[in-house]
Amino acid sequence: MQRFARPLRTLLKTTTTSTKAASTRPTITTPISTKSFTPVRTMASTTTTPAGNADAFLSFVKNRRTFYALNKDLPISTDRVQDIVKEALQHVPSSFNSQSNRVLVLLGAEHDKFWDITLEILKGIVPEDQFAATAARIGGFKAGAGSVLFFEDWTVVEGMQAKFAIYADRFGPWAGHSDAMLQFAVWTALEAEGLGANLQHYNPLVDEKVQQEWNIPATWKLSAQLVFGGKAGEAGEKTFEPLETKYKVFGA
Ligand SMILES: Cc1cc2nc3c(=O)[nH]c(=O)nc-3n(C[C@H](O)[C@H](O)[C@H](O)COP(=O)(O)O)c2cc1C
Repeated sequence: MQRFARPLRTLLKTTTTSTKAASTRPTITTPISTKSFTPVRTMASTTTTPAGNADAFLSFVKNRRTFYALNKDLPISTDRVQDIVKEALQHVPSSFNSQSNRVLVLLGAEHDKFWDITLEILKGIVPEDQFAATAARIGGFKAGAGSVLFFEDWTVVEGMQAKFAIYADRFGPWAGHSDAMLQFAVWTALEAEGLGANLQHYNPLVDEKVQQEWNIPATWKLSAQLVFGGKAGEAGEKTFEPLETKYKVFGA
């Protein structure tokens, strides 16, 4: 279990403001100044989303599934895939807007190479009698059109730890939260364009080779690989625990 130096509630204080929504929002009252952390470029929000769009958004959330049967026939261009990844990378939030997420997109032959490298590494680890099954699984990923590799940049995490020592043990987990948000955003957006995708974790086995092959800084910590392609099959059955076991509300 993650242990924090101080309980969060001692660092947060609820402010009293005129609107109900704002009054429930906690404000960090740490004595540490945030002035020293200046984003490279700030952008004010210029658009206001009208009400009534949550159902459309939630339909994409519901439609995102794990698709293992993939092919190389994408319903959209690889430029469009990249635009989606870039948009998500720029706009997914991070703690203190620290922007610790990093991404490597591998397309076509580079995607194939990544899965060849992974299989080669697994060959030295997986027992011989299980290797055929492993090779078939990796072959399934290679059959896709591309892979998005997600990283967390620990130069950013350590920079934040140095600047805001009071949160030092949280920047790692927070980088993980932001990374997971990005993975989810990319996964969901690609499926919203009709692609299939599945999420894999061959890190840290492949980390060193990835660094060498694609000139990735050692400070970028690989966290996940999202394989995508055209859909060559259906998603599996999915069961749901009853909401009552997972959800509580008070004051409704
Ligand atoms: C944090 C996380 C880690 C996962 N790791 C893997 C993985 O290593 N390999 C895999 O095949 N699927 C992985 N999955 C996919 C889950 O098994 C899958 O999302 C889950 O069974 C629900 O199915 P769905 O994606 O179709 O909704 C992962 C999903 C999440 C959210």
